Amino acid sequence: MGTGIGHFPRPHSRLDSRAGVFQSPPPMSEAPSPISVCIAGTGSYVPERVLTNADLERIVDTTDEWIFTRTGIRERRIAADDEFTSHLATKAAERALEQAQIAAEDLELIIIATITPDTPTPSTSCYVQQRLGAHKALAFDISAACSGFLFAMKIASRLISDGTYKNALIVGAEKLSAFVNWEDRSTCVLFGDGAGAAVLRAAGPGDGAILATETATDGRLAHLLRIPGGGSACPITPHNAGENLATLAMLGKEVFKHAVNRMKEAAEKVIERAGLKPEDIACVIPHQANLRIIDAIADRLSVPRDRVFVNLEKYGNTSAAAVAIALDEANRSGTIKRGDNVVLVVFGAGLTWAAAAIRW
Ligand code: ACO
Repeated sequence: MGTGIGHFPRPHSRLDSRAGVFQSPPPMSEAPSPISVCIAGTGSYVPERVLTNADLERIVDTTDEWIFTRTGIRERRIAADDEFTSHLATKAAERALEQAQIAAEDLELIIIATITPDTPTPSTSCYVQQRLGAHKALAFDISAACSGFLFAMKIASRLISDGTYKNALIVGAEKLSAFVNWEDRSTCVLFGDGAGAAVLRAAGPGDGAILATETATDGRLAHLLRIPGGGSACPITPHNAGENLATLAMLGKEVFKHAVNRMKEAAEKVIERAGLKPEDIACVIPHQANLRIIDAIADRLSVPRDRVFVNLEKYGNTSAAAVAIALDEANRSGTIKRGDNVVLVVFGAGLTWAAAAIRW
């Protein structure tokens, strides 16, 4: 099992050779029952360098008071010049693998969620695969901004659940500091660098389970949050190099409105699909972008605020990494315990949003 690309089972041919029309799929009774999937280990890593709000006061026209009251952020981590997204991802992955007690060489799938890849190609997952020595795994990246980790969780859990792979490493990793306009006070105060990882595998007796996932996208709102330059639409050339086009641009107020409504909807869907009620939820781990968004979500979901995990004061918004780092901290601090019902819910550029209900 798990020899990478060649391992995908051949789909049933559904093209009727005589008539050239699609046949109906095999009866449900022939389909094997889905395999339950659990999270066997989590890990995270943030760079050493701390950039406080006071430090930012010396870079742009802002104050600690403005940043903290508008966002809840006190400080963020900034990667060193020679520390790339793949380095952050690898360190988080090593910790998750260690906790899961799965050797890198036994990994069958690696999905890295990032909007700040080391290079446009190859994917950051290839560098992570190389550094881990996970040579049997199929490795690819996905781009879904802050929602990427839960998009990866859904893909990986489906591929384990249908028997394609036995295990998977999913990582949210970002070096956003390389894509921030350090002259724009409306964005540079918000973001930070870091990585969070989880190892998924087929669940055994007594293990937890991923109970339900929800993922969604609305490309009509793509303009609200983007990195406009550096892609094929607007390559960076000697003529525009000084215009900071390869940096995050956001219509913050608009994003805020959608974030609250979409995250509420996604969380409610997974809670219902998992057969749970808000009072059954031991911990909600939301995307760590803004404390006011988190408070609004807690309110609308009728989950007491002390059951909502928050760490954004230390790291700011680390996009795909944020919910993954929070999950690892909640796990390692004992905030979430075996048997707890946990809801993860995220929102990001695209626009994208997602949620997962997990029995820990
Ligand atoms: N310091 C001081 N003043 C500032 C700063 C700053 N750092 N930034 C903006 N201001 C000023 C503005 O110029 C404006 O001044 P004005 O009223 O004189 O024009 C005032 O503060 C208010 O600015 P707003 O942008 O309206 O502030 P708002 O209350 O909306 O907060 C924020 C901005 C924090 C960005 C908020 O809108 C937000 O969090 N939005 C959601 C972001 C998010 O969730 N993103 C998730 C996805 S991220 C991803 O996918 C990568």
